[in-house]
Amino acid sequence: MTVKIAPSILSADFGKLNEEVQEVAMAGADYIHIDVMDGHFVPNITIGPLIVSAIRKTTDAIFDVHLMIENPDQYIEAFAEAGADIITVHYETCPHLHRTLKLIKDNGKKAGVVINPATPVEMIKPIIHEVDLVLFMTVNPGFGGQEFIPEVLDKVKQAVTWRTEFNLHFEIEVDGGVNEVTAKLCKESGVDILVAGSAVFNQKDRKKAIDVIRNA
Ligand code: DX5
Ligand code: ZN
Repeated sequence: MTVKIAPSILSADFGKLNEEVQEVAMAGADYIHIDVMDGHFVPNITIGPLIVSAIRKTTDAIFDVHLMIENPDQYIEAFAEAGADIITVHYETCPHLHRTLKLIKDNGKKAGVVINPATPVEMIKPIIHEVDLVLFMTVNPGFGGQEFIPEVLDKVKQAVTWRTEFNLHFEIEVDGGVNEVTAKLCKESGVDILVAGSAVFNQKDRKKAIDVIRNA
């Protein structure tokens, strides 16, 4: 199975965000990865529902909305209405994770859970049958262009094992430091979706950049 590519618009030129999104969608992006940061859970502030609804008007691409915010329950409806297709929330921000995942599904969206590099994969085992997607951070979230943490791939392999063992169908995504070299390691570990920010948007030829990662 070929790996899916989700360019992260965090590294796009925000002065021409619509064109940037359209360009990577045309270049074969499977999902558009949208990084939402609140300046509390992570040290950076980025995108709100207003921006998501603005870019929603220009493309039919699947929007993979990664919420790096405290109290995600408070904003799920807004992001759903803005045009998210998949909404992922951090285990570290959700004291009532079943409730939060249910809220995403009640809004008609696919629900995913994210864990930081230092969070053991065992923490999400009790809810793994509830999710459409598991996102493993391969950097500490907050910024693009950081270095890949390879130890996370052991957690990916455990999730692959559980998926088979429990006959589940969630997708496995990684985010952070994905490039031509690390993409290969991810694929070998069983990753289905690769998020790539700087490795796509820092290249002039986005189609070539996506193909290089996909075929790594
Ligand atoms: C990090 C974000 C990532 C980021 C990835 O907090 O969640 O999606 O944009 O950027 P790269 O691919 O440059 O590491
Ligand atoms: Zn992300």
